[in-house]
Amino acid sequence: MSNVLEFLQQRNSSPKLTTPGPSDDDMEHIFRAALRAPDHAQLRPSRFITITQDRRAAFGILLEQCLLSRNPDADEATLSRARNSPLRAPLLVVVVVKITLHPKVPPIEQRFSGACAAQAVLLAAEASGFAGIWRTGAAAFDRAVMTGLGLAEDEEIIGFLYIGSRNGAAKVISPLDITQFVSTW
Ligand SMILES: Cc1cc2nc3c(=O)[nH]c(=O)nc-3n(C[C@H](O)[C@H](O)[C@H](O)COP(=O)(O)O)c2cc1C
Repeated sequence: MSNVLEFLQQRNSSPKLTTPGPSDDDMEHIFRAALRAPDHAQLRPSRFITITQDRRAAFGILLEQCLLSRNPDADEATLSRARNSPLRAPLLVVVVVKITLHPKVPPIEQRFSGACAAQAVLLAAEASGFAGIWRTGAAAFDRAVMTGLGLAEDEEIIGFLYIGSRNGAAKVISPLDITQFVSTW
């Protein structure tokens, strides 16, 4: 089996991440890979927002404020979890899609393309020696969070990718029986 196939079969999210995160040069390669996501009619729906260093704390405050607007009864533990959540990795990449009205490319296909780009970021980050995890939650669907991140009305969040160095051992991937997932028609 080729190294690439072996790598693809072992891809593994990491909820526990630490420094170092990828360099700007690493990220350039990672984003070039992400921009190779399938893209019907070349609409270029995806863009990426990076959040690092002390901007993570600023983003945490935005998440906390938006959570409080969604749920004015949220307790301090919940608010603190939201505020600190961006500090779980040295780098966050927000994957954004712009939905364009197009006669042949419905919005769902543009979201699919954004999801492929998100997966490509994770794969390319892992191929560069890092690790990551795709997270969403209510914040990803909250227009106030989107506005705080500078998204336009026709843009949406596909996911928050947390990226850094794997903290601890990668989890063991149990082999699946592919016959349960694949059939011939
Ligand atoms: C669209 C999407 C949203 C997700 N949101 C979350 C999330 O908010 N929190 C979380 O812990 N995992 C979330 N996950 C799952 C993780 O990214 C990851 O796939 C899961 O922990 C399993 O690990 P694995 O990718 O190594 O199989 C999400 C996955 C997808 C595709």
